[in-house]
Amino acid sequence: MAEVRPESMQRITTPELARAYIDERIEELRAQVGDKKVLLALSGGVDSSVVAAMLIKAIGQQLVCVHVNHGLLRKGEPEQVIKVFRDELNANLIYVDATDRFLDKLAGVTDPEQKRMIIGGEFIEVFAEEARKLDGIEFLAQGTIWPDILESEAGIKAHHNAGGLPEDMQFELVEPVRILFKDEVRVVGKELGLPDNMVFRQPFPGPGLGVRCPGAITRDRLEAVRESDAILREEFAKNGLEGKVWQYFTVVPDFKSTGVKNGKRTFDWPCIIRAINTTDVMEVTVEHLSDELIDHLVDRIISEVPGINRVLFDYTPKPPATVEYE
Ligand code: XMP
Repeated sequence: MAEVRPESMQRITTPELARAYIDERIEELRAQVGDKKVLLALSGGVDSSVVAAMLIKAIGQQLVCVHVNHGLLRKGEPEQVIKVFRDELNANLIYVDATDRFLDKLAGVTDPEQKRMIIGGEFIEVFAEEARKLDGIEFLAQGTIWPDILESEAGIKAHHNAGGLPEDMQFELVEPVRILFKDEVRVVGKELGLPDNMVFRQPFPGPGLGVRCPGAITRDRLEAVRESDAILREEFAKNGLEGKVWQYFTVVPDFKSTGVKNGKRTFDWPCIIRAINTTDVMEVTVEHLSDELIDHLVDRIISEVPGINRVLFDYTPKPPATVEYE
């Protein structure tokens, strides 16, 4: 496919334009891949999901998807990947639950950058191990999108999708959404029949809930992050905020404070709610929630999430605060 986005290319905003793009790519993919096999790390994020759906249409069982659960995914995510891709789209999907492996390696690690490196490095190791078990893979599919290319050219962000695999494992790349902007990837994904909550989902960092469990990750605190995040997402969806607010999540910091519940002293963590809007993620404003919704969130999180006795709201824009806590 084209190395650069043609200047004359029309922005894909309608199902018709998406269909035309998909048809063109499918033909191209079939010609590129022939009867060979293609490997894809399927995270469940928008880009890799759209690439998977397109490749399933183009080459069916010649695509091998590997979904690595690093134990830092949101509640219900691995289940949704399996349901959508294995059960509904009949994908050739390998599911690897590597939770213990990741959490064991992360035990006691407090430095944010070291945590990121462990998560990234272990991810590649698990993925490479699965790849080695397979025969006849000649291609690696990636959800590289046009802003990735622009940002890596401008030196803003290393385009890390491509690198990483061990030296002896070099595949030819297949990048069917490479010339698309994010909004176009979503239109194409919808046309490919992916569910709205997959196509229009909020950004989620590669290190997952790991950066929302600041300091050394423990299973109980991670569970508190996961459960409170699920409640927040559920309430945002119920209150018409899903798809409107750019990003929202919870953080459970590593300190405890005194509280009281059923007449007894508690000593538990706080849960911080962060809800933000932005266009470019360089500058971010805070979404102000209604008093009723805040009260309801406090109520639910306190009563349903073990280990939490306070709920705090982060009112800080970026700058000075980054979106994530680590
Ligand atoms: P910050 O915290 O830098 O976040 O203001 C800006 C946006 O980037 C996401 N983010 C990450 N995404 N790997 C990712 O894939 C990461 O390590 C990472 N750190 C932050 C963050 O969720 C926000 O949307």
